Amino acid sequence: MLSFRKNLENIPIYDGVEKNYRVKINANESTLNLPPLVEERVFGRLSHLAFNRYPNEEYYDLIEQIAKNFSVDKSQILLGNGSSEIIEKVFQVFGGEGKKIIFPQPSFSMYKIYAKVAEAESVIFNLDKKFDLNVDEFIKKIREENVNLAVICNPNNPTGNILSVEDIEKILSSIDCTLLLDEAYIEFHGKSAVNLVKKYKNLIVARTFSKAYGLAGARVGYMISSKEITDNVKKIFMPYHMNSLSLAVADIVFQMRDEFVPRIQIAVSERERMIKRLSEIKNLEVFPSRTNFILIRHEKADELNEFFESLGIGVRFFKGNESLKNCLRISIGTRAENDEVFDAMKNFLEEI
Ligand SMILES: Cc1ncc(COP(=O)(O)O)c(C=O)c1O
Repeated sequence: MLSFRKNLENIPIYDGVEKNYRVKINANESTLNLPPLVEERVFGRLSHLAFNRYPNEEYYDLIEQIAKNFSVDKSQILLGNGSSEIIEKVFQVFGGEGKKIIFPQPSFSMYKIYAKVAEAESVIFNLDKKFDLNVDEFIKKIREENVNLAVICNPNNPTGNILSVEDIEKILSSIDCTLLLDEAYIEFHGKSAVNLVKKYKNLIVARTFSKAYGLAGARVGYMISSKEITDNVKKIFMPYHMNSLSLAVADIVFQMRDEFVPRIQIAVSERERMIKRLSEIKNLEVFPSRTNFILIRHEKADELNEFFESLGIGVRFFKGNESLKNCLRISIGTRAENDEVFDAMKNFLEEI
């Protein structure tokens, strides 16, 4: 008989099977592939990659660049297969039986799963009606529950709102446990708390190349923290856990990150334009966003989602999720895609 590890039956499978949407705005990806100049360099680099060797040079080149950019030591950086691998490993390192991990709700849905996999107890902290985090209450809960790891996603997915760097520092200066700050969407906001790593040994900042840098397909992320933390996270990585191809691509993308600035700016201005337009639709609640997506609420969200599906437009619908009742999350696409989404939504909602 097949016998699986304890509690595995309570862990849902991440359903990665996707429809082939004509307008794909359900996963907060970059709507554009690599800038032509970057693509050219990437192909040049791949043509002399040592496929026969384990990834060493590529790994340390990227670490060196990132460390230099943030003025930290190389020992304070770890790379991962997307920030997903980083987050999962951090949960493993600070989780385990009898340990508690706190994270807000609603937030990135994978935190709950990683906590289960790490056999830690999840402590859910509910955001308020506007999806803001009450900092004092959060600190209180961390202390009361004696949690081992606190997690904040800033800006928050899927709500799009932010916590100020001052509030993050207030939390850090009030707690003893480790804080994992997930900055997957920080480039669309611009106010990172990464410099606090130099002051607080218990801070981990997780970043990704998947969103602003359009590398979702390469799966590259990284973390910045104290050496004491990276030394412990390293212990549970498998040898050569990253592949040379992705590392070489990410290395060039990081070198050429200025090439991405115009498209980040366009995504931000499209977001603002969409927020303004959507706010004019009657009975549609539009939440403020500092990311590359917008959360909306309408009592006909289910029907609206079906309508989008019928048009080949894929958005994220949070069916059955009480904290996100009647909410849809729409990633920012090209201007033409955004216009199409807006027109479809306006026509549908004003007709019913
Ligand atoms: C908040 C947040 N963190 C982390 C991730 C993981 O991204 P990746 O593994 O592609 O870096 C995502 C992906 O959607 C996300 O939304």
